[in-house]
Amino acid sequence: MKIFFTNLAGRQLVLLLLATVLLYTISARSAEPETAGARADALLARMTVAEKIGQLTLFTGYSGITGPVKEQSQRSLLEQVRKGDCGNVFNLISVAEIKKFQKVAVEETRLHIPLLFGYDVIHGYKTIFPICLGAAASWNPALIESSDRVAATEAAAAGLDWTFAPMVDIARDPRWGRICEGAGEDPFLGSAVAAARVRGFQGTNLAAPDTLLACVKHFAAYGAVQAGRDYNTVDLSERTLREIYLPPYRAAIDAGALSVMASFNELNGTPATVNRFLLQQVLRDEWGFQGFAVTDYTAINELVMHGTAADEGDAARQALAAGVDMDMQSAAYLNHLPERLAAGQITEAQINTAVKRILEIKFKLGLFDNPFRHLNEQREQQAFYAKENLATAYRLACESFVLLKNTNQTLPLKAGKKIAVIGPLADSRRDLLGSWIAKGKANSCKTVFEGIQRNNPGAKVTFTAGCDLDSTNRAGFAKAVAAAKRADLAVLVLGESCEMSGEAKCRTSLGLPGVQTELLLEIKQTGKPVVVVLMNGRPLALEEESQLADALLEIWFPGTEGGAAAADVLFGRHNPSGKLPATFPRTVGQVPIFYAAKNTGRPLDPANPKEKYKSSYLDCPNDPLYPFGFGLSYTTFTYSEVRLDRATLNPGEKIQATVTVTNTGNYAGAEVVQLYLRDLVGSVTRPVRELKGFQKIELRAGESREISFTIGENELKFLRADMTVGTEPGEFQVFIGPNSRDTHAAKFDLLEP
Ligand code: NOJ
Repeated sequence: MKIFFTNLAGRQLVLLLLATVLLYTISARSAEPETAGARADALLARMTVAEKIGQLTLFTGYSGITGPVKEQSQRSLLEQVRKGDCGNVFNLISVAEIKKFQKVAVEETRLHIPLLFGYDVIHGYKTIFPICLGAAASWNPALIESSDRVAATEAAAAGLDWTFAPMVDIARDPRWGRICEGAGEDPFLGSAVAAARVRGFQGTNLAAPDTLLACVKHFAAYGAVQAGRDYNTVDLSERTLREIYLPPYRAAIDAGALSVMASFNELNGTPATVNRFLLQQVLRDEWGFQGFAVTDYTAINELVMHGTAADEGDAARQALAAGVDMDMQSAAYLNHLPERLAAGQITEAQINTAVKRILEIKFKLGLFDNPFRHLNEQREQQAFYAKENLATAYRLACESFVLLKNTNQTLPLKAGKKIAVIGPLADSRRDLLGSWIAKGKANSCKTVFEGIQRNNPGAKVTFTAGCDLDSTNRAGFAKAVAAAKRADLAVLVLGESCEMSGEAKCRTSLGLPGVQTELLLEIKQTGKPVVVVLMNGRPLALEEESQLADALLEIWFPGTEGGAAAADVLFGRHNPSGKLPATFPRTVGQVPIFYAAKNTGRPLDPANPKEKYKSSYLDCPNDPLYPFGFGLSYTTFTYSEVRLDRATLNPGEKIQATVTVTNTGNYAGAEVVQLYLRDLVGSVTRPVRELKGFQKIELRAGESREISFTIGENELKFLRADMTVGTEPGEFQVFIGPNSRDTHAAKFDLLEP
């Protein structure tokens, strides 16, 4: 080498060196793994139009019914997979079943493209966690993330690749049954939960054996259906859409979610399924979404009923043009895209765009590298109900419970007392799981009654239902009253059945169904202390019940470990720390009611509630029964005044708001310290307060801690009159406290730039 170099002239040497570097770079590049995009392109180039349309098609299997299905036999679905007509399947359960289908796809179709298997893993797969509204009441995104990690681990072990979750629809109308599936009324809390859930499902590596592809739904503003009636019209200003409804979807996309489900509803005249403003402008152009968009169940066909398409063929054309990549269950792409392509009404380039997005995700998931990567029977057997999975479910249940009332320290219960457990939900297993229970099994749950028995060994605990959930039969009252009279206290477990919330489960009343309130009244008349435990999937209007009960504990539908957890909390083994993620009204007539309201030009002065010509009701106060963010503890917390580290700030600077929180009671406890802001004068009206931060802390009895929030551009900006996002100078109020109502306040000025 040395001789060779010395014989070369300087210029030649430089050239040689450059060439070597270039060669090295090229060979290193070609050794790099091909990107999912490049692999998708290469495959796409080999596909026929029919094969492409097959990839755009998603059909239900037969292991679950989640929509209006025409009977789908296993045989015909397998045939469709074999023919290449169906590239994706949902509602198929178990490794054995999924393997059967995957083998056909990869062994018997021309290009061996693996299927993607989806399922509604909403709050657990086998181990069921509290319903999502309950989980949000924990105000603990990290714990919610762990719960979805567990859900993904169990579901992936059952062969699944993809979950139709998280559902991140903001909901401010508790009549809407699907409020139970989301994180409640607030975009800030909703965004934190949305991002946590995506991280939980998708983990850090999409191709890992224990991850699920997340699907953010329902895009968009499904929670704003008029009159709280499912599938109904949504009519929203762009301002409200962007400020209130869109942030959680955005947070989920930013957290890495790679699929999105369009919602059933129309938005301002255009159904979401064909809403190019949503699916192209907002989702892709503004947010840079890189995944694929799927419809909801038969939503393309439903465009005919919406009245924006004359027939299913036209509906398919519109959906493709709007940016929908995958057709769930309508078969409209399969049946009509070929004819529309032949007629020149759509282009192959449009089809290619959609196919590429789907193939790219299949590559990213590692499906092409190993289509059987989730299909291991042995792992399936071991994954379910693992000890640590149940421990996470137990912890999230405990943290989701909200103590709404506790006069005379009725709770925690002391062991050794005679307890009459009463109510139609006290010994129900199935109701504990709520809606969307995937493969959860009711017989693996302990009921609240059983949990109370376990906590009260040696003392008498009786159970009698007293009444049904929603009949008018009072025949059981006498027995329940007699049981209460013989006991030291009564624990009533009341509420809704698990069938009363969820999809297409809307109500016009927010009271306890049937004669449950009458039963409570009768028990109260015995003079015994009455603890009411509530199970429900929505905020309820329980003014009378809240007066009758000495203590009121909201446990939602708490999941596999929820009955045991509820009993343990009643006995003080854990101190409740949940806070309401949605306002509880006094009456359904106040709905929609939420804390971040506008002031109006004639706000009611609470000190003068009868004043005329004010924004108020004749027959009901304006304020709710329990405000957003509310929840008590067995201990008490006091808050100092809010201290600011400066009185003014320039644009781009930050200000710190600090309070001292002290546990002034006798128990250790957790508290969610909440920060709200108000922009007093804006180019458009601003809410009377908006959540901008929260911290969940634990304090021993007697312990104090300083809690600080940093406020800057991010917290102060909003959608200004000209629809740009930014801050405006002027006065701001800072509120810090234990809920959206009982706060301390301070003020600062944001100066002119
Ligand atoms: C309809 C529901 O709206 C959606 O949330 C669900 O994911 C699909 N059905 C699939 O089951």
